[in-house]
Amino acid sequence: MQITGQTKIVGIIGDPIKHSRSPQIHNAAIAALGLDYVYVPFHVPSDNLGAAIEGFKAIDVVGINVTIPHKQSVIPYLDEISREATLIGAVNTLIFREGAIIGENTDAPGFLQAMAEDDLDVPQGGSAVVIGAGGSARAIVVALALAGVRTICITNRTVSKAVALAADLSDKTDASIYGIGLDDSKLPNAIGTSQLIVNTASTSMDVSHPLLIDPAWLAPLSIVYDIVYTPPETRLLQAAAEKECHVIGGLGMLVHQGAIAFEKWTGVNPPLEIMRQALQGAFDQK
Ligand SMILES: NC(=O)c1ccc[n+]([C@@H]2O[C@H](COP(=O)([O-])OP(=O)(O)OC[C@H]3O[C@@H](n4cnc5c(N)ncnc54)[C@H](OP(=O)(O)O)[C@@H]3O)[C@@H](O)[C@H]2O)c1
Repeated sequence: MQITGQTKIVGIIGDPIKHSRSPQIHNAAIAALGLDYVYVPFHVPSDNLGAAIEGFKAIDVVGINVTIPHKQSVIPYLDEISREATLIGAVNTLIFREGAIIGENTDAPGFLQAMAEDDLDVPQGGSAVVIGAGGSARAIVVALALAGVRTICITNRTVSKAVALAADLSDKTDASIYGIGLDDSKLPNAIGTSQLIVNTASTSMDVSHPLLIDPAWLAPLSIVYDIVYTPPETRLLQAAAEKECHVIGGLGMLVHQGAIAFEKWTGVNPPLEIMRQALQGAFDQK
């Protein structure tokens, strides 16, 4: 990589930022395509967010990914925000264009593109269950509602969060969305009759944690999607595979959400396989 006065800058802001694997993924794609870009991680504490955004404008940065804790607090600095990002209430990608800053959220389309890559269909007009009611669950419920899923059950340990998320997104989309607890007697039937079950609860990261749902409830041939990517094949996915469900892990979503941002900044479709290998390499280094 040769940096010159013409090299275009993209990057990521967060606090902390040291752990981010995005620089490896994006710089691998930049190198493979021979583009004159560099992707730089910037450590930006909350108090400096406004100054950092102004600085990026001043030095003609092309695009910035946004991670914790700035995904919501960056919104007041933006000139435009996509419908998806507005519904999700969080932005993970900034595009600097002709003096304006546009905010998008690529988690939702990344989630859907990873399914499409595996030839798995979103159940348009059908039903889905989303386990968890945190930040990523919100993005996924928005993705599913905008993609035409008719009924979405959100189930969560803290019932009030599932109910609040369902009420908010029911009002703002055409989907019929309801929230219940993990111990609700309606959950086995909701899972058994849904074409798509998505886990967003972080308990999947802990291989010793008991499963949040009983795999016996899963219907064969339904799709079980666990967005957790460490480990790449979670215990839920192993149990679902034994029930002859179609299974998909979170690595594809992670790669696709990055690839969508890359394409928006450079106008070039990045090589997904190179990004995937770079991500794997970054995991192996940890
Ligand atoms: N593949 C990707 O690209 C991608 C993108 C985003 C996130 N992720 C992964 O998705 C996971 C969730 O991320 P997030 O941002 O949504 O996190 P979050 O906002 O902190 O939400 C965490 C969720 O997990 C639930 N949970 C945590 N501990 C639990 C327990 N002991 N029992 C039952 N439920 C529990 C929480 O329930 P309560 O509300 O009851 O606390 C909440 O619903 C993380 O592992 C993250 O790495 C993957």
